[in-house]
Amino acid sequence: MPEFISLTFPNASTEINPIPNASIDPEYLTRYARNLDDYGYNYTLVPYDSSSYDPFTIGATILSVTKKLKVIIALRPNTLYPTVAAKALATLDQLSSGRVVVHFIAGGSDADQAREGDFLSKDERYGRLEDYIKILRRAWKSDEPFDWDSKYYQFKQFSNRVRPTNGPIPVSVGGSSDEAYRVGGSLADIFGLWGEPLKETKDQIDRIYAEAAKAGRPDSDRPRIWVTFRPIIAETEELAWAKAHKTLDALNTNRAKGQGKAPVDAPPPQNAGSQRLLDIAARGEVQDRALWYPTVTATNARGASTALVGSHQTVVESLLDYIDLGADLISIRGYDNLNDAIDYGRFVLPKVRQTLQERENGSTN
Ligand SMILES: Cc1cc2nc3c(=O)[nH]c(=O)nc-3n(C[C@H](O)[C@H](O)[C@H](O)COP(=O)(O)O)c2cc1C
Repeated sequence: MPEFISLTFPNASTEINPIPNASIDPEYLTRYARNLDDYGYNYTLVPYDSSSYDPFTIGATILSVTKKLKVIIALRPNTLYPTVAAKALATLDQLSSGRVVVHFIAGGSDADQAREGDFLSKDERYGRLEDYIKILRRAWKSDEPFDWDSKYYQFKQFSNRVRPTNGPIPVSVGGSSDEAYRVGGSLADIFGLWGEPLKETKDQIDRIYAEAAKAGRPDSDRPRIWVTFRPIIAETEELAWAKAHKTLDALNTNRAKGQGKAPVDAPPPQNAGSQRLLDIAARGEVQDRALWYPTVTATNARGASTALVGSHQTVVESLLDYIDLGADLISIRGYDNLNDAIDYGRFVLPKVRQTLQERENGSTN
């Protein structure tokens, strides 16, 4: 059965109705997190940005007000020494009885990395990430003191008394560059992708699996695949498309006012994932059943931006296409954050699960 992921929002600001400089709204955060828990989401990603809030404290707050929901803490290695990260993640994991996953971001933009003092090249950032993951796993497995001496980290006699609840915390890696495939394919438990057409998604999955095989991982130990979409759903196709165009208008208007995710004159993105989305967007607005790209162009592919537009049924079928292709985790978040999360919880998650359950029952009857 696939698992569902949402994204964490700390206040009522959205891309279509931005509240400039909104601070964290603890009541909103609690309401949002509890809705995810109640509507059967498995995880929420707590994202990282150089100018934004601290994912660890937001994650701890979410875990304290939910029962089953897991948090995926986004972490850039340059922001925290690996031994500190190993203990911080394990602390959160103990506090929540094992509801923590870590999502690693090597860093897709030199300028954003420089804002927090990181001047390594992108390939070096992936090299550092590789070391980082190995250090965390070592720290989570053993409380025996150990030394480390690599290009990026050197320390002596570190011993960790804060061990995760159920063995090593699952490690996710996101990206779409050769180095992302190599590091994620060889080391990650989960590999995160943005929503691309079925063919391109399959190509990426093959690349990740090939890197896993090259690293000696058996098929039973390949990374689980996570794909991300921004569904725009309504009761009928017509209503969904009307909503999609209204969403696009709002994205364009807000960007023109300087309230978009990317400024109007933003340079082309440096990260391969966004470059791929923009290349695909140039081929046409709709790909496959319902994958819609104008939201990609309108945001300069800043973060997950491919929409899936259609009736509840069309979006359910589109997600099933990806599950059949090999997606194990499906991330869905909309543009009207809380309302969309609830709508998916009512009309999408149960239908996807029910269809898969029926298929399973059919094959065992
Ligand atoms: C599912 C997913 C989630 C991501 N979350 C974040 C995030 O929270 N913060 C961030 O800076 N980058 C995030 N990224 C972006 C990539 O991790 C980042 O661009 C990467 O370091 C370099 O990408 P590249 O290998 O595609 O060039 C995410 C990517 C994916 C696929």
